[in-house]
Amino acid sequence: CLAAPFFPLLARAQGAVDSTMDHAAMGHAMPAAPAAGASPRPPGGAPLAAWPTLGARGELRAAPGLLHWGGGLNTPSWGYNGAALGPLLEWRAGEAVDMTLVNALPEASNIHWHGLEVPASEDGHPRDAVEAGQRRAYRFTVPEVDGLFWYHPHPHGRTAFQVAMGLAGPIRVRGGRSPLPADGIDERVLMITDQRLLADGRIAPHSDADWMDGREGDLLLVNGQYQPVLSVRAGGWLRLRLINACAARYLHLSLPGHLWRQIGADGGWLEQVQAPVKQLLLVPGERADVLVALDGAPGSRAVLQSLPYVRGKMVSAEQSRPEPILSVHYQRTAAQARPPLPRRLADIAPLPAPAVRREVVLSETMSMEGGKHQMAFLINDRRYDDMNRADFTGKVGEVEEWTVHNRSDMDHPFHLHGAAFQVQWRQASAQHPRAPETLRAWRDVVNLKPDESLALRFVQRQPGDRLFHCHILEHEDQGMMATLRVVG
Ligand code: C2O
Ligand code: CU
Ligand code: CU
Repeated sequence: CLAAPFFPLLARAQGAVDSTMDHAAMGHAMPAAPAAGASPRPPGGAPLAAWPTLGARGELRAAPGLLHWGGGLNTPSWGYNGAALGPLLEWRAGEAVDMTLVNALPEASNIHWHGLEVPASEDGHPRDAVEAGQRRAYRFTVPEVDGLFWYHPHPHGRTAFQVAMGLAGPIRVRGGRSPLPADGIDERVLMITDQRLLADGRIAPHSDADWMDGREGDLLLVNGQYQPVLSVRAGGWLRLRLINACAARYLHLSLPGHLWRQIGADGGWLEQVQAPVKQLLLVPGERADVLVALDGAPGSRAVLQSLPYVRGKMVSAEQSRPEPILSVHYQRTAAQARPPLPRRLADIAPLPAPAVRREVVLSETMSMEGGKHQMAFLINDRRYDDMNRADFTGKVGEVEEWTVHNRSDMDHPFHLHGAAFQVQWRQASAQHPRAPETLRAWRDVVNLKPDESLALRFVQRQPGDRLFHCHILEHEDQGMMATLRVVG
């Protein structure tokens, strides 16, 4: 039952617009009593904090810390340069990066620069683990892109655990001139994660079900904060740079009373501002750049929430019930003027006909091991159990077209390292016709529903071993990952 005390922001947003009533009345100073088995609720309601930022040179110190939620709730967690998550890395296209990972964790880790085309040796391959107590520098040139990316650990078999402990952070790359008007746009980077806590505040360990479905938490966090408040001025545009950094939760975002106009995908700008929609699906690992017209009246509120999404046949809807994420509060100041948007944002050249075609099949099987049911997640019938095996060998500069098939009972978000791709067509199942993809975009994550197939094209421009995998981190860790060896 969705009782009001568990959804204080939602209740407040629906109930009243009087900003003086809330804190005491809704028990904001105290976490509400959680449902059986649910995480203790942090207080929430604090202003959305600005990101700490770091440029292209610096240190990321991965270390245990203690997260203070307020209300006496504390969580031992892992973070980069803080108790959880990491700074927003602000980079410019073409700039030289020199970032040192200092591993102060009790186990090996590394950093993968998700979505960025960096040399394979610098991209956090699981072979290149940085042992506990060690450090290493990552050196590369920021590619010529303009978009939002992210960084997270990628050690062999430990990615899901380390990300659940708090390790991840955003990267904003600016390149070229923005096609958007300079004024009247309030831009925010929102990294959405989920968490599950034990009654004493510790991060809940993975359950057996988590290792099948992927781990979802009942606390949705934005930039590490629980149900923060974003204060906006009526009239302009809110530009949200969204990252789904959850291990497995599909974010089905809605901001009642407001529409989403997508302007960018994983790899940067779309060609045009998209028609406004009510809901936006963002799968694990994926990013979206969206504009929201701030049409609310001064003094009103709206709640950003994630609506249920059923991830295939095996995952219950219960796991994805609607959860409030963030409350948007309109200031009482008079509305500002909203600048018009450009007709064209960018040009995306279609990729030419492929030199190579390959088939990729995602599947899962159930096996019995030691009297226990054990899931195995596979790509082309193999699991990732050898970091040096090449599953495919390709060439630098050659256009590849991959047909990816989901032959399993649940959705899988497919991700490729080293190059962004363009989706060519989709096919809901073998019984359906292929539907050409009409939206041209650079992506590095694409979802496949059960029985779905799709084709994607890309070019790897640098040699090395490039991973491709399901971005449900538990599936990745259990073997739904493989290697494209690119030779020069
Ligand atoms: Cu964000 Cu190999 O992944
Ligand atoms: Cu990646
Ligand atoms: Cu998966």
